[in-house]
Amino acid sequence: MKINANYKNLNESYLFSTIARKVNEYKAANPQKEIIKLGIGDVTLPLVKPVVDALKKASDEMGVKETFRGYDDQIGYPFFKEAVAAYYKKKNVTLSHNEIFISDGAKSDIGNIVDIFGKDNTVLVPDPVYPVYVDTNIMDGRKIVYIAASKENGFLPLPDNKISADIIYLCSPNNPTGAAYNRDQLKLWVDYALSRGAVILFDAAYECFIADKALPSSIYEIEGADKCAVEFCSFSKTAGFTGVRCGYTIVPESLIADGVSLNKLWRRRQSTKFNGVSYIIQRGAEAVFSKDGQSEILRNIEYYMKNAGLIDNALEKKGVYHTGGKNSPYIWLECFDGRESWDFFDYLLNTCGVVGTPGGGFGETGKYFFRLTAFNSYENTRKAVEKLSAL
Ligand code: MLT
Repeated sequence: MKINANYKNLNESYLFSTIARKVNEYKAANPQKEIIKLGIGDVTLPLVKPVVDALKKASDEMGVKETFRGYDDQIGYPFFKEAVAAYYKKKNVTLSHNEIFISDGAKSDIGNIVDIFGKDNTVLVPDPVYPVYVDTNIMDGRKIVYIAASKENGFLPLPDNKISADIIYLCSPNNPTGAAYNRDQLKLWVDYALSRGAVILFDAAYECFIADKALPSSIYEIEGADKCAVEFCSFSKTAGFTGVRCGYTIVPESLIADGVSLNKLWRRRQSTKFNGVSYIIQRGAEAVFSKDGQSEILRNIEYYMKNAGLIDNALEKKGVYHTGGKNSPYIWLECFDGRESWDFFDYLLNTCGVVGTPGGGFGETGKYFFRLTAFNSYENTRKAVEKLSAL
């Protein structure tokens, strides 16, 4: 038996597992010290009431013969796909049920979609980047080329015609930098992909945090994207589903690559390897789109964005270069005193008990940067900001 030798090319542990281990070690050595976690983008507010009610009701239905459900053989129930389609309609994007695939979150689908692509494709990823895009391609042995996101381009790199790529990963608002593309910038990416016959894998997991309504919240708001882009979205950050698990992936029927419908390939892949999201969870997620659900999750999003504003303002006041925090729950800042990001991680943890994510964990360009999240409580965020300001 031989293992997939590509795994030998991965970092020994996944970024957030390494951070969790370091924090646990620190906690064990300093049990009396307070720790404020602004590291992994995990939410802290509970599920909103309309979602909880829908989950309970659906659970009850599962205990009654007439309303019990078994396999979901359509990769998403029609009632839920209808709710997703209606949400996109508000963005002036028309989707058929066939184009919507319900998932257990963006990470799984982003990781799994590479199954339908040849291993000899060249992959283009911005650097810094959400590690899943890189790791899943390393696992398959694909060639990866990087395009630098930096202070010079405001952490929003644009296509370079000298770079040849077949698969392009974009995330806007971005994880980790919090920077968000405008329409003209996204159009340049769509045109680049169309001109090369490349496919864009667009991660829209943070779309609900866009406050500036002039910014696109779906790549399908850009003309031509339905012929070159797959979009991934999730309820994790939108509605506190990190522990519930639900998301959706859009694969347009008009997306043809290598002479084949990617929609058909993805359906083939999913119907073989995935048995769908439970009825109960889909009912809970459907409630996110209800009138009450929308107004309650908006309140939670505003709560997190108030935290983001606290961090953003403090850094602004101190003249620390940073991006994000305005249309994103992530703030990406330059490490103080020219420190390297893992050193900065230890420094913050040891001096003030604040946990963030070292930029170097997202790629070479992040080596002197650091990511903070707005997902902790207001009180803890304020405390962390005071400690950081004092530093
Ligand atoms: C992050 O912190 O980057 C995210 O929470 C990771 C994820 O969503 O998988």
